[in-house]
Amino acid sequence: MTVQFSDAQASAQLVARNRLDAFVASCEFDRPTLVVDTALVAQQYRALKAGLGRADIHYAVKANPERKVIETLVNLGSHFDAASRGEIELCLSLGADPADISFGNTVKRASDIAFAHAAGITLFAADAEEELEKIAEHAPGAQIYIRLIVEVSQADWPLSRKFGCDRDTALRLLDVAKELGLDPVGFSFHVGSQTRKAEMWAPTLDALALIWHDARDAGHDLSLLNIGGGFPAFYGEAIEAPTAYAAAVMAQVTARFGNVARIMAEPGRGMVAEAGVIVAEVMLVSRKSNRDMHRWVYLDIGRFSGLAETEGEAIRYQFETPRDGEECGPCVMAGPSCDSADVLYEKRPMQLPLSLKAGDRVLIRNTGAYTSAYSSIGFNGFPPLAVVTI
Ligand SMILES: Cc1ncc(COP(=O)(O)O)c(C=O)c1O
Repeated sequence: MTVQFSDAQASAQLVARNRLDAFVASCEFDRPTLVVDTALVAQQYRALKAGLGRADIHYAVKANPERKVIETLVNLGSHFDAASRGEIELCLSLGADPADISFGNTVKRASDIAFAHAAGITLFAADAEEELEKIAEHAPGAQIYIRLIVEVSQADWPLSRKFGCDRDTALRLLDVAKELGLDPVGFSFHVGSQTRKAEMWAPTLDALALIWHDARDAGHDLSLLNIGGGFPAFYGEAIEAPTAYAAAVMAQVTARFGNVARIMAEPGRGMVAEAGVIVAEVMLVSRKSNRDMHRWVYLDIGRFSGLAETEGEAIRYQFETPRDGEECGPCVMAGPSCDSADVLYEKRPMQLPLSLKAGDRVLIRNTGAYTSAYSSIGFNGFPPLAVVTI
């Protein structure tokens, strides 16, 4: 099912998109630059909220921690999912209420838990006994949600194996949390980032609802379900419009989990990706030999400077050049660094104009999420690697 925007939504989006494009067209950039329009972020927040209804939006700060983005969302009443002390400090410094911030990383430094507790944060994620012990010691009495593992994901950027725990472990952790004096309130999961269709949530929700009901049958008075992120952005393949997508997810949640007292959603990509465009430049177009099937197009941005999600060619961005409309041919795309892993698309070459040459501007669309954040000096809010020279 592909739901189209209503006329009003489409024209509002067009106005904002025009603003972004007009700004980009009027500027010279001397290095690759992500331009984010906070009006588009605000519009997306409202669209997602309209579909999510009574669920609280906890924006996943890691997708784009730009101060103006956070400020915009604070003003709209968004809540926040923080991965680290750095992200908590960022949100607090911009006026977020500590009661609206969840500490969603399942792997937390003890001193960061203590910091969050002292700052007034009361909601923490965990998927292991040792993590519960840390939280009990440094944030006594805190509310806990246990993250469940998602075994099978249809997402373009799955998050499956690293996070969460299975049914038996989750049920045991609810007991352990109680014994430690914590307040286990519910479960969380992540369906996988860039889950393009709402219907792709069904197998995950089916599996997790069984665990939810088992936990309730075992006497746990669960009141919170955190459905995580996964809300998609447009990268060339059809996706549903945000309100329809979010509403379809919520309908599936209600059908399986019933009337849960508190529901949280943590969109990251789906909130900010379409609000940003990267302005980049072609550095070189070349062929390795006369027999080379494809041109190589080297950009001034690559895997290590913003386009990390081209890993495995998982996320396929949309490129625009001033020569669009001219005859196109396949090319291998690569970044500028002296690292042979800095190749963006090779298995499935990109189609770009044959006349493309060094110095041409390239717009990379819908790149507001997981670009500047990865190339920053503090992805997920963790400080950059310290360097000491002796
Ligand atoms: C705990 C948590 N919540 C939410 C998100 C955001 O996911 P998405 O960008 O798919 O919306 C992530 C992404 O890594 C995450 O780890």
